[in-house]
Amino acid sequence: MLWRQIVKGSRGSSTVSIGSEAHGADDLDFDLERLRARRNRKWTHFPGDGLPAWIADMDFRTAPPIQIALQHLVADEDYGYPDRDGDTPDRAIATAFARHERLLHGWDPNPDLVQPLPDLVQGMFTTVLAYTEPGDGVVLPFPAYPPFQEAINETDRRLLPIHMLNDGQRWRLDEEHLRNVARDARMIMVSNPHNPTGHVWKPAELQAIGGIALEYDLVIVSDEVHGLLTYPGYRYLPMATVSPEVAAVTVTMNSATKAFNIAGARCAVLHFGSSNLHDRFRLRFPRRSLGAVSVFGVDSTLAAWTHGRPWLERIRAKLTANRTRIATRLSESMPLIGYVEPEATYFAWLDLSAFDLHQPPSALLAAAGVITSPGSDFGSDYRDFVRLNFATSASLLEDMLSRIAEAVAPHSVDSRVASDRTVSPRTAIASSRTCDESVQC
Ligand SMILES: Cc1ncc(COP(=O)(O)O)c(C=O)c1O
Repeated sequence: MLWRQIVKGSRGSSTVSIGSEAHGADDLDFDLERLRARRNRKWTHFPGDGLPAWIADMDFRTAPPIQIALQHLVADEDYGYPDRDGDTPDRAIATAFARHERLLHGWDPNPDLVQPLPDLVQGMFTTVLAYTEPGDGVVLPFPAYPPFQEAINETDRRLLPIHMLNDGQRWRLDEEHLRNVARDARMIMVSNPHNPTGHVWKPAELQAIGGIALEYDLVIVSDEVHGLLTYPGYRYLPMATVSPEVAAVTVTMNSATKAFNIAGARCAVLHFGSSNLHDRFRLRFPRRSLGAVSVFGVDSTLAAWTHGRPWLERIRAKLTANRTRIATRLSESMPLIGYVEPEATYFAWLDLSAFDLHQPPSALLAAAGVITSPGSDFGSDYRDFVRLNFATSASLLEDMLSRIAEAVAPHSVDSRVASDRTVSPRTAIASSRTCDESVQC
């Protein structure tokens, strides 16, 4: 079906066609041939027949309002310095972000304290550089998305890891450990919801982080890019909603790139919870030093935050079905894989420590045709894990799960683990990790 949409362009009305493939009621999937033909890193970096389930891109069709916005730019060949409805693009992004947060999460960010910038990793580095000095301690919950670690290590700050606890049912904050390291820190960086475990921080955990930050005078950097990707029954809360006091020491980072699958558009925001944080940041990074967001980033982000909800709801339903599929397949045919279902994100954080592999699990799975992110990237204690990106079609996910089941089957060292326990083996193994010193839970 050719989907056509009339949009009003700066030079009058122009006709814009959105894709030439079926984009029907529930057709959000590309076929495999089309996925392989595209030039994104997910599908090109590992040549061969392997199915990529690593980098954080989704395999789904794009939200129509984003396609319309981008097609509009192309139709009008409108690539000059942008202006949006009489506002600078920065202001338009800041206003759209504030409105979107107010509508969805009841948070009321101040657009005057929003700084657009090309990407979140840049936000990680600049905030570390702005609020800390070489040698200062920065707390980071582990397992940890690698760029957080890089932003601390590569700027000669001191990484203070705290390891999340896992009772086999859920991940949670180790508040006591946080309190112990906080006295030696200047900042805490949080992935909220958490990449790679998919944990949605609960109000009590956010309050604990906020309270400890206030007590020890830490700046909180809260990366909330996965906030829209929660599962039924879980509610993400922006860190800045904990209390006005906590908001005042929090820099929130966000973008439309994960939920709307537009990482290549390069557009993100920092929100400073107080003028004090804003001024301190500005001293280190004058506005012009940050560069500017591209016209593609501006328009795709505005479209996502303003008109993207219907598409997003369909994507969330697909991800929910995939998440159920994973739980079912694991309990049916791979019960020794340790797994806590994510509460948000499209990542399954899988523990293969019960297998006798003699190689990193990601290498075993890659040889079997599933490219996952190695657990060691998220911390040296997580060598036995892999992160599986399940934002793909149901059929590709089935294929991946079958390949994984076949790959691990010959490596089950001890079937007694499965038969001797009255509780689910997956739970038993995950529980045992809580007390295993090598994991530093
Ligand atoms: C928690 C988190 N922050 C940041 C990023 C990267 O964002 P950007 O591409 O804007 O640097 C990702 C990508 O997966 C992520 O998961």
